[in-house]
Amino acid sequence: MILNDEQKAMLNGDLGEGAAYAMKIQFALGEAFDAQRMVPIKRAHVALSNQDGDLWFAEKLVKAGAHCKVAPTVNPGFCTGHFTGACGHPADAEDIAHMIRTDNAYRALGAVLSYNCTPYIATNVPNFGEVCAFSESSATPYVNSVWGARSNRESANSALCAAITGYVPEYGLLLDENRKGDILVRVEADMKTPYEYHLLGMMGDKIGEGIPVFTGLPHTISAEALRNLGAQLNTSGAYGMYHIVGCTPEAPTVEVALGGKKPKYEVVITNEDLQNVEATFSDKRDNDKVDFAMFGCPHFTLEEAQHIAEGVKGKKLAIPMYILVSSHALQMAQRMGIADVLAEAGAEIIADSCPDQPCWHYLKGKVGITESPKCAYYPRRRGIHFIIRDLDTCIQAALTGEVK
Ligand code: F3S
Repeated sequence: MILNDEQKAMLNGDLGEGAAYAMKIQFALGEAFDAQRMVPIKRAHVALSNQDGDLWFAEKLVKAGAHCKVAPTVNPGFCTGHFTGACGHPADAEDIAHMIRTDNAYRALGAVLSYNCTPYIATNVPNFGEVCAFSESSATPYVNSVWGARSNRESANSALCAAITGYVPEYGLLLDENRKGDILVRVEADMKTPYEYHLLGMMGDKIGEGIPVFTGLPHTISAEALRNLGAQLNTSGAYGMYHIVGCTPEAPTVEVALGGKKPKYEVVITNEDLQNVEATFSDKRDNDKVDFAMFGCPHFTLEEAQHIAEGVKGKKLAIPMYILVSSHALQMAQRMGIADVLAEAGAEIIADSCPDQPCWHYLKGKVGITESPKCAYYPRRRGIHFIIRDLDTCIQAALTGEVK
């Protein structure tokens, strides 16, 4: 790989130990992927996990004096303010200390402490063609597919290195020739709400490895539905990008989306496929009762919080309900009175938090209801189980305590 003078100086340690450490990792990645050069990035997003490996890496960079040249937004851990008292189920002292260390490390690195996994909707939105370094399952496909920006499917660590050096090795989805679709996916299922896009995204096994080109979907699709599609594609598989013919910017026609080539194969998705996903990822119970409802994996938008508020206004929930959002959406919900409506019904709207965090220890052994297969998938390892249904069915279940 040919490096410019600044990149060479970083690699040699002339710009500090931290920058050298980050550049060494990126140089190795570039060599592994046969990149010819490194190119500057305009923005980055780091999918911090608040887990041991992530914290080890971030603190190592802090100790080495690293500081981000391009301040990245970051994924949620959990909100220490909420989980120390407000919720009535305080997180363990050790877990709170870990979250505080994560917070301190990323602050020292110069990150934007956004703690939100949908930055592409409001706070970190690229322009068409912009080169970025985005990690996070729903974020990478969204910026590539919906915004037409260019990012490889970075890990949290490689995205952080890119934020520190300000560069990424040029390979993969940064190059025109690698952005063409190669699997034709004909959707025959009824795609009525964002929920069906969650289920469609969980078809990774059937779609297989490559860049899917979806046909049969509407030309206008909501941000929430597109968010769901990308999130679940990277729960059921590994996809940096997809095309939706007539909707996403690099797919005006099937021919353009496929780069004039024939697809390597075709896949048809039916209503039955989506019903199977719902059944496969829902936990089985011998009765209709659920213990709690959880939404916001990925983080819910203000509009989704408002939709729930309209559904529960003037009523009382039978079971706890947790709605996970960005701090921006929370503040808007508070200003607009949405948070009050939710609180009166018994729902909690929480910023900065993810279902795959230790703060939910008190839900261990319980069965919740959610509209997100990803929400059902990850917390399983923490002993928390879910039934999956569309959002309106989930809201009704929270009002009665039973799934109809
Ligand atoms: Fe976001 Fe955590 Fe779900 S990062 S997508 S809320 S697993």
